[in-house]
Amino acid sequence: MAPITSAFDPKDVTVIFVLGGPGAGKGTQCENIKRDYDFVHLSAGDLLREEQKREGSQYGELIQNYIREGLIVPMEVTIALLENAMKEAIAAGKKARFLIDGFPRKMDQAEKFEEAVVECKFVLYFNCTEETLKQRLLKRAETSGRVDDNEESILKRFRVFKDTSKPVIDAFAAKNKVREINAEQSIEAVYNDVKKIFDDLFQMHTYHYFTLLDPY
Ligand code: C5P
Ligand code: MG
Repeated sequence: MAPITSAFDPKDVTVIFVLGGPGAGKGTQCENIKRDYDFVHLSAGDLLREEQKREGSQYGELIQNYIREGLIVPMEVTIALLENAMKEAIAAGKKARFLIDGFPRKMDQAEKFEEAVVECKFVLYFNCTEETLKQRLLKRAETSGRVDDNEESILKRFRVFKDTSKPVIDAFAAKNKVREINAEQSIEAVYNDVKKIFDDLFQMHTYHYFTLLDPY
């Protein structure tokens, strides 16, 4: 029997998983990276919210309930949405470089995605204390209109992050595939740290004038 092959070859398609607790700044920093390094930004949460709103979606109600409870939507739904979005971006002629934001949130998602779609290059992990996350989420609640930006849902999301999503990060760390950022800092300071990682990835080393001119 022919071996099961994944949808993409990691030689052609770069995937970086962007993880961290809710409110860690994943979306904000992904937009910066997208602007400066030509990535396609796919947020699993945004894709789920879009699918939830789509007229005729058979998953609308299920997604709404999972999101409100801060629970992880069954992986088949999320992986199908991500794979479709990746294929669409490639078909539209975009560079095959993806920031997959807020995914994988559960071990089975990580395993299935890497087997069926493509292996990730590394995990970018925004590490932040719950205290800071909670402050940011409550601030965001004033304008986000999200059903899960309220105190009760936030506590549920923290619990799921700790019990279910953090172990995914730990598993990638055990394989030496995590680049960790201190996300407690300001947006600008966090992005400075992020840039070091991406400059390194593309070997955009900065040569200082004196190293070129100084004869010694
Ligand atoms: O990443 P974001 O905070 O936008 O995710 C919002 C919610 O979407 C999560 O709390 C969860 O209910 C759902 N989600 C999921 N699986 C993912 C990403 C998000 O079930 N991989
Ligand atoms: Mg987000």
